[in-house]
Amino acid sequence: MNTKVTRKLSYGVYLLSAREGGRDNACIVNTAVQVANDPTRISVAVIKANLTCDMIARTGLCNLSAITEDAEFSLFQRFGMQSGRDVDKFAGFSDTARSENGLLYLMAQSNGFMSLKIVASQDLGSHMLFIGELVDGEVLSGAPTATYAYYQDVIKKRAAQPEPVKKGWRCTICGYVYEGETLPPDFVCPLCKHGPEDFEPIGEAKPEAGPVKWVCSVCGYVHEGPEPPEKCPVCKVPAEMFKKQE
Ligand SMILES: Cc1cc2nc3c(=O)[nH]c(=O)nc-3n(C[C@H](O)[C@H](O)[C@H](O)COP(=O)(O)O)c2cc1C
Repeated sequence: MNTKVTRKLSYGVYLLSAREGGRDNACIVNTAVQVANDPTRISVAVIKANLTCDMIARTGLCNLSAITEDAEFSLFQRFGMQSGRDVDKFAGFSDTARSENGLLYLMAQSNGFMSLKIVASQDLGSHMLFIGELVDGEVLSGAPTATYAYYQDVIKKRAAQPEPVKKGWRCTICGYVYEGETLPPDFVCPLCKHGPEDFEPIGEAKPEAGPVKWVCSVCGYVHEGPEPPEKCPVCKVPAEMFKKQE
């Protein structure tokens, strides 16, 4: 099985906001999907370590703002690459308004917002899947919603930031950069919680001959990365059963 096939799924990017005890917070998500229309229900998967996840679980409310293609990379940095546990993400950020539920939504870099009342949730391990009923919402513009691919290919690149490190590994999911020649095999992205298989080498750490491939000698599963996986995700045999592909 090639798990990279999941990258063929298409997503939009959204600001997911919550409010608890008079405090606002929000994070970036790419996992919002309408899953029913009578009544209208929308699911969103949120990393359990995120403050936004705890706030939604405790209050049962959230807003989703659809982010448009003209959005700046700094919006993603502000809300998607730091936690409300460490900073007040809305400090000095004024492009917002409050919906009837008292939560903030984006007024700029967005084409509309949805207010959700959580009606069900499911613990998925790394993420909590919330299902919310649409209770309020407004269209703000006709600008297209940015897809996750558009964020990766255009928004991130047009920021044209100078490369901060000479050697390292970049998370292909959220853009986090690990500085160092070798990425530890058990490394977990501190932002999006993805593992080494979703990191690519950058700068001088880039190998000349492409990524190392490890083949499971039992079922043939191919793993890409500096080390074989702890166990085969298909037939579950341990790392020792993997052979380096020459
Ligand atoms: C493009 C992009 C997509 C993301 N998608 C998700 C997602 O679907 N679910 C999620 O929980 N976090 C996602 N994240 C990561 C969170 O936005 C990030 O962990 C954030 O810092 C959490 O902040 P908080 O602790 O204040 O809630 C994404 C980040 C980026 C940049």
